[in-house]
Amino acid sequence: MERVSWRSLMAFLVAVLALHPCFCYAEKAPNYSFVREATTAPRLSNHSYIVIGGGTAGCPLAATLSESANVLVLERGGSPYLRPGRTDKVNYLLELYNTSSDSYAQQFRSEDGVHGHRARVLGGGSVINAGFYSHADPEFVKEARLDEALVKQSYQWVEKKVVFESPVLQWQSAVKDGLLEVGVKPYNKFTYDHIKGTKIGATIFDRNDHRHTAADLLEYANPTNIKVYLHATVHKIITTETTGSRPKATGVIYKDATGLRHEAYLTEEPNSEIIVSSGAIGSPQLLMLSGIGPANQLKANRVKVVLDQPMVGQNMADNAMNGLVVPSPLPVEVSLLPTVGITQSGNYIEACSGLNLPPPPQEQMAKLLPTNLNKVSLHYSVSPCVFSFIMINIGAFINTRLQGGLIIQKDGRPLSTGHIELRNTDPNDNPKVWFNYFKEPQDVKKCVRGMETIISVINSKSFSRFRHPSMTTEQLLDLAAGLQSNARPRHPNTATSLEQFCKDTVLTFWHYHGSCKVGKVVDSDYRIIGVDSLRVIDASTFHVTPGTNPQATVMMLGR
Ligand SMILES: Cc1cc2nc3c(=O)[nH]c(=O)nc-3n(C[C@H](O)[C@H](O)[C@H](O)COP(=O)(O)OP(=O)(O)OC[C@H]3O[C@@H](n4cnc5c(N)ncnc54)[C@H](O)[C@@H]3O)c2cc1C
Ligand SMILES: *[C@@H]1O[C@H](CO)[C@@H](O)[C@H](O)[C@H]1NC(C)=O
Ligand SMILES: *[C@@H]1O[C@H](CO)[C@@H](O)[C@H](O)[C@H]1NC(C)=O
Ligand SMILES: *[C@@H]1O[C@H](CO)[C@@H](O)[C@H](O)[C@H]1NC(C)=O
Repeated sequence: MERVSWRSLMAFLVAVLALHPCFCYAEKAPNYSFVREATTAPRLSNHSYIVIGGGTAGCPLAATLSESANVLVLERGGSPYLRPGRTDKVNYLLELYNTSSDSYAQQFRSEDGVHGHRARVLGGGSVINAGFYSHADPEFVKEARLDEALVKQSYQWVEKKVVFESPVLQWQSAVKDGLLEVGVKPYNKFTYDHIKGTKIGATIFDRNDHRHTAADLLEYANPTNIKVYLHATVHKIITTETTGSRPKATGVIYKDATGLRHEAYLTEEPNSEIIVSSGAIGSPQLLMLSGIGPANQLKANRVKVVLDQPMVGQNMADNAMNGLVVPSPLPVEVSLLPTVGITQSGNYIEACSGLNLPPPPQEQMAKLLPTNLNKVSLHYSVSPCVFSFIMINIGAFINTRLQGGLIIQKDGRPLSTGHIELRNTDPNDNPKVWFNYFKEPQDVKKCVRGMETIISVINSKSFSRFRHPSMTTEQLLDLAAGLQSNARPRHPNTATSLEQFCKDTVLTFWHYHGSCKVGKVVDSDYRIIGVDSLRVIDASTFHVTPGTNPQATVMMLGR
């Protein structure tokens, strides 16, 4: 008898394991013959194109170039394919706050006191991002003077490989209905397009919640024409002076994981060039390390000036993120941004729920919890009942899944901008970055509008099931302020003045852009103004972030 039940228990366990999502990977990770560790790279090589950064723009760009030319891609990070479950939807926050020195996300803090992340992996930001996929607004395409037909074809090229329709389950439905109830209309259903109202967006997560990334676009590459080296950190772009003293890019110096130095050069073909796709922070940093940037800054860091280009690293912008954490009395699904509200005022409202949270003792969440609890109890002397469910829900913040969700908002076109400065000459280090969030008063007003919409949504009838009725709006504002880890001053009126709330609790939307802007650093063909054989193709060239979220357009641009 005992034996039988033991066996049926085993059978039951096997069945459960077999049904568990981790055991049903439909797709095989690609096994690219041309992706290798840089330690296996020759010390010296020649190529028609050298792409610096195998990120969201770099991968589609290199795949495209390899159709007809010899391409080298140098990526400082490793492969995203070694343990695919790591990048599943539910682990989004876990990977983002992985502080290991070789994790996919390099942590950094801007001079504004806001914690941020920079991709450091083949596939770039598409390996660590929230996956939302949205086309640029038609104005963006016009302003950038891109060929509309080519834009469309290029989006489709991306979509065939890595884009899916987001499922909308109970919690996201409540957010969607809440948005419609408070007037973020019309309902535009599922669409790639950027249109005012409430819509369901696309995503790079498939139906099993596995992530697809820009690295998958390398499946389009011609394997005989491309080499991708991992853990290959470019230290410098080599330039020579041509006649008339106009500098020309001719090669790069990079180091592999053991610190060994390699050099790669451009072939003599007339079209040969180096393309910097190192991201909005990495691209201006590398240009400066190569002597292309504001002369005073280069001299201060003892970098030989190749070209005094004062605009490199200026106009650095980010879209502020503000929002609320809303604990739920009911269980919620794992969701990452399927529903989006695009308001008349130009605020983008997005939401996620049920994610795994980083375990303590990681500073980001855990350290603040006791302070937060004290704060909630001291400032608002919450009722024991409210206090206990905050405790229960905060219990859910520790090394487990969030029972509840985050509703956040982004300002589509912030006016405030900042700049970057070299901290030192180590390309592995983060430069100093200022975004100057809310420097312009209009940006504060816009944030307040967005927060008002979020507050209306959580107080809407449609959303009421997923919100503890006894928790006041002020308590939710205070909870949001307490749970986050930015190093900005807190003011006593954070929960009573939305202006103050916006400034004190600002986080990054990670949509950094503008540091190598078209018209300032690169021309409308993305060539560096004043240097031959050198372009920049990535988010640093944008003057605003396209669509609600930029990755679709970054990949399209690479194509
Ligand atoms: C946490 C997070 C969430 C986001 N959520 C979304 C979202 O839901 N939807 C959306 O559309 N967008 C989202 N974004 C934004 C989007 O992912 C980025 O705008 C986009 O990935 C930027 O692409 P890029 O090619 O400019 O840079 P990246 O993709 O960052 O590529 C730059 C690459 O260059 C490499 N590199 C840098 N310096 C060097 C060097 N010196 N040598 C060699 N290699 C180098 C880096 O390792 C990296 O792989 C998010 C971003 C983050 C970080
Ligand atoms: C990947 O392909 C290489 C040959 O190109 C082979 O040696 C290796 O075993 C393959 N790896 C996997 C995990 O299939
Ligand atoms: C690269 O090109 C240079 C000059 O064209 C040549 O001297 C050198 O031998 C080439 N190196 C390789 C590894 O092909
Ligand atoms: C964090 O990153 C390191 C280095 O890539 C990796 O070995 C580790 O497994 C990651 N941790 C998690 C929780 O994925």
